[in-house]
Amino acid sequence: MSDDVGYGRVAALVPAAGRGERLGPGAPKAIREIAGTPMLVYAVKALAASPVVDVVVVAAPSDYREDVGSLLQPQEFSAEVFVVAGGESRSESVARALIALPDDVDVVLVHDAARPLVPPEVITNVVAAVRDGHAAVVPVVPLVDTIRTVSGDASLGATVSRDSLRAVQTPQGFTRDVLQRAHAEVDAPVTDDAGMVERLGISVHAVDGHEDAFKVTRPLDVVLAEALIEHRRTR
Ligand code: CTP
Ligand code: MG
Repeated sequence: MSDDVGYGRVAALVPAAGRGERLGPGAPKAIREIAGTPMLVYAVKALAASPVVDVVVVAAPSDYREDVGSLLQPQEFSAEVFVVAGGESRSESVARALIALPDDVDVVLVHDAARPLVPPEVITNVVAAVRDGHAAVVPVVPLVDTIRTVSGDASLGATVSRDSLRAVQTPQGFTRDVLQRAHAEVDAPVTDDAGMVERLGISVHAVDGHEDAFKVTRPLDVVLAEALIEHRRTR
């Protein structure tokens, strides 16, 4: 275990400031309802209920900051929950949440509000791997489809072997120091925090993700999320 990790608290940052354009017209994605409850509430509950998470910082759409605060206020969380205004990009939203971190946090998770149904063991496994000495950790899952390249004239190119490919999920976990450094020093068009950390020359460790941690992106994903909630309720 590295010397500087092991004694502080664990925080989860929840970027929730996206518009949800691929979901179609409506309110920002994080506050749209799944089975009658805003998506964000599931994500925050999953994190706050985890025995390994002490603090949750939500980056809300800036014009909905108060609404998000009141959505979360009536909930009983065992973790401390803060809401800040998010930014124009996901990485800006994460950066704004980072600023609000209490001093005694030394491990930071970043978890999409759009992955409301992440199972508890994924959160636990990611934190355990950071505590084990991995400065950057991502949960991954195998791909199910055959992957082919397609050229400009729509003719199929090579089949890409699935064996070495994985889809990357969240929560991603980092030592606080590494995540802060990435946000201070890296200005590259990468889609997630692990991608930023790699630009520092730090390697990222993969742990098992879970199919339930899928990202709600398109309308069909809402149908799937509602079915999964119902399945969990009745099993
Ligand atoms: N996100 C954010 N701030 C932004 C953009 C995205 O906090 N400016 C968050 C989203 O709220 C989401 C996560 O990053 O929880 C993953 O992004 P994505 O699934 O792309 O969500 P949206 O950007 O809302 O969706 P879309 O790209 O379809 O508009
Ligand atoms: Mg987006």
